[in-house]
Amino acid sequence: MGTPHIRILATGGTIAGSAGSAIGHGYRAGQVAIADMVAGAQALGIAAQLDGIDIAQVGSQDIGWPQWQPLHRHIVEALADEDIDGIIVTHGTDTAEETAMLLDITLPAGKPVVLVGAMRPADAVGSDGLRNFANAVRVAGDPAAHGRGVMLVMGDTVLAASDARKWATANIDAFRGYPRGPLGVVTPATLDWFGPADRTGNPARFAFPDRLPRVEILYAHAGMDEATVGALLRLDPAGMVLAGLGQGNAPRAVLSALAEVVASGRPVVRASRVDEGSVDRNVEVDDDAAGFIASRAYNPQKSRILLQVMLANGITDPARMQAEFDRR
Ligand code: SIN
Repeated sequence: MGTPHIRILATGGTIAGSAGSAIGHGYRAGQVAIADMVAGAQALGIAAQLDGIDIAQVGSQDIGWPQWQPLHRHIVEALADEDIDGIIVTHGTDTAEETAMLLDITLPAGKPVVLVGAMRPADAVGSDGLRNFANAVRVAGDPAAHGRGVMLVMGDTVLAASDARKWATANIDAFRGYPRGPLGVVTPATLDWFGPADRTGNPARFAFPDRLPRVEILYAHAGMDEATVGALLRLDPAGMVLAGLGQGNAPRAVLSALAEVVASGRPVVRASRVDEGSVDRNVEVDDDAAGFIASRAYNPQKSRILLQVMLANGITDPARMQAEFDRR
């Protein structure tokens, strides 16, 4: 294989951030244009042809439907372009999990699509941005990266979009995989996969929708009562996700109110506010009686994306929805 041609789609984030000082604590995300980042990578002598398109220049707290639509369209175009071997999306780390999840379930598992971010801005001492970017180029240009679904490259590890979870607010080692750990380890010069591609030839799980319905996340806490469920209902969501206690639990009155939400035709997914672990059916909560869906290995923010995409695709059968949450 010759030098890989990689399309970079930039959205902003800390990887494109600037502090204006190498030792400053504060910084602004999304300040560096993709052309400058590409020039920085090429100055390292990376053996890849890189071309970049700025989709957005925002901190990822401001990423949502208006950015996801053009991002998805540009990826679909790049996937269809025979001259392009892989795609990199530069992204803030705060909502990278959600963008990665959305792309993973709405794209075929063909050419590599790799999200990459950074925890330190480009001009900070010890910035991780250029290294993470060089690692992402290594992954996106590797023929063995095909058929693995969307991936996230951070801190010398490659994580599957479905597993990647941000677990630290400031460490450069900010992401972990659950339930699987990394798919591989990467440096700008080396790449080791821990197993073969497991999705080769898989089509997209769901059509990319025209819009995403409103789905709200309800965060459970000690002393909570059912009034918060009523407050959220006033927003008229199409469904709700419980960021529940432990195994996706909540006070009895809250669970009763959520069962009424299900009875009114709005699906409720029970997830957990705990960083790690699965939420399984009928453990402490009687999901069969209440009609809840258990999030299994998906955290609340990923569950929300999966529920939104299913609802947008007209999938409302609870058994089918549960099967999609069970699937990895
Ligand atoms: C952001 O998500 O845009 C800011 C934080 C980061 O990129 O690490």
